[in-house]
Amino acid sequence: MDWVEQLRPIMTAEVRGTVVQTVGITVAAAGFPAPIGAIAEIERQGTAPIRAEVVGFKNDLTLLFPYGDRQGVRHGNFVRLAKTVRWLRVGPGLLGRVINAEGFAVDGKPQPLLSDRVLYDAAPPHPCSRPRIDEPLPTGIRVIDGLLTCGKGQRLGIFSAAGVGKSVLLGMMAKYTAADVNVIALIGERGREVNDFLERDLGPDGLAKSVVVVATSNEPAVLRVQAALAASAIAEYFRDQGKDVLLLMDSLTRFALAQREIGLAAGEPPTTKGYTPSVFALLPRLVERAGRSPAGAITGFYTVLVEGDDPNEPVADAVRGLLDGHIWLSRKLAGKGHFPAVDVTASLSRLMPDIIPPEHNRAALKLREVLAAHRDHEDLISIGAYRRGGNPLVDTALSMREDIDGFLRQDMRDRAEYPRTVARLLQLAEQIAGAAARSASQRPELTGQGGVNAGGNSAATGGPQTAGQLNGAVSAQAHGNGGAGTARQGRWPGSGAAAGQASAAAGPR
Ligand SMILES: Nc1ncnc2c1ncn2[C@@H]1O[C@H](COP(=O)(O)OP(=O)(O)OP(=O)(O)O)[C@@H](O)[C@H]1O
Ligand SMILES: [Mg+2]
Repeated sequence: MDWVEQLRPIMTAEVRGTVVQTVGITVAAAGFPAPIGAIAEIERQGTAPIRAEVVGFKNDLTLLFPYGDRQGVRHGNFVRLAKTVRWLRVGPGLLGRVINAEGFAVDGKPQPLLSDRVLYDAAPPHPCSRPRIDEPLPTGIRVIDGLLTCGKGQRLGIFSAAGVGKSVLLGMMAKYTAADVNVIALIGERGREVNDFLERDLGPDGLAKSVVVVATSNEPAVLRVQAALAASAIAEYFRDQGKDVLLLMDSLTRFALAQREIGLAAGEPPTTKGYTPSVFALLPRLVERAGRSPAGAITGFYTVLVEGDDPNEPVADAVRGLLDGHIWLSRKLAGKGHFPAVDVTASLSRLMPDIIPPEHNRAALKLREVLAAHRDHEDLISIGAYRRGGNPLVDTALSMREDIDGFLRQDMRDRAEYPRTVARLLQLAEQIAGAAARSASQRPELTGQGGVNAGGNSAATGGPQTAGQLNGAVSAQAHGNGGAGTARQGRWPGSGAAAGQASAAAGPR
């Protein structure tokens, strides 16, 4: 920050206005020419001044969104400009600490000594200055590292309804990831959940290499938005120090709801579901701040609540298009006690094929094929109407159920080491190829004729349409040649499958 910026708060110290009215939850000041985003202090009767953020203008009035209760504010109170540029103190002393959106420690320990300052609203790195994402970031979660491998600097959404294991999954990632630093933003959580997360899900080991920024649901909307900006700014600080940063934001939906509250208070017109245009302008600005820079990388996981399992909820819809992949947590799997409840067939890491060796990708594709086949026959299987021999992939899924489940499930206390995850996946793919080949050879009438409807597989993967083609695909891959080209080109089998899966993710499983 140059010296002009540093002097600006001092130079504007004398900008003063007066409270003339309240508009909804905002306070309107007359004669107060402060810019949007500036921080002001509103005098109050008999108590300390209250801080507020400039969120808009109406006629000649400046609208201020208070950082706390407006109790005590009266007509004619002075409003004083405190800062035109919002910055945050940062430094290594933040590690292991829990702070609020304004950077104050809220963990009962003394305020950390911090030597540097960063802007809340820093611009994302220029697209041309971003190195390509070409290296995986091990998360320590087997299903993600194996089947949804995430690159250093990638941004993924975790889409889920309430209570299906988001907090536990984020806590596991924070504990087990290979990243140097975690920055965790808890936005709009209930107060009780924060301690649950810190003590149960994150634990002392996870906290030691994390910075946690908290704005609970009872805090004003401006602070809930600011917490997300603070977490991004802290992640940028560590990235610029050359660190690999894992940014976990829970939740992007509550960030959007807070911005909606501010937008409506400032007089913006509501659009779909009451969301204001500024929400959709702010979301890309926020998520673009993650990514790789020449110094380091911020890998971002953003949770998105899909209440009522409505995939077309406007925030979920907008976010899907902004991120490089999505992980869908399924209520159905959680209900069966299958944790992490990741629905692999509905999830996708767009960069995965570019960052892992072809044999890893081939193995992941094979397991996906089997899972997709099983998913499409699940109803028949559950009522006992599926006959063995009907589909070699489903037969394989059934015969290898324990092995596959053992790979996908993970206890919250277990760390999955990346090399072991990949080795296990390759082994599993070999077993699948063997089992599928055996199953196909036992039913020669099914090969090459397309006599059995195996459309279930094609629905999920955009892959082959018939059992014959499926067997061909499986055996081609079993011999180590099928799928490699597709994998390197960054697509799942069949063209447009990424889009297909994106829309598959829209639906609850
Ligand atoms: N890996 C796991 N192993 C065992 N149990 C798990 C696992 N993940 C989640 N659970 C169970 O699921 C419950 C809900 O998980 P969690 O609190 O993470 O959900 P959530 O999606 O964060 O909920 P909310 O939407 O209320 O914040 C946990 O209390 C735990 O019992
Ligand atoms: Mg939670």
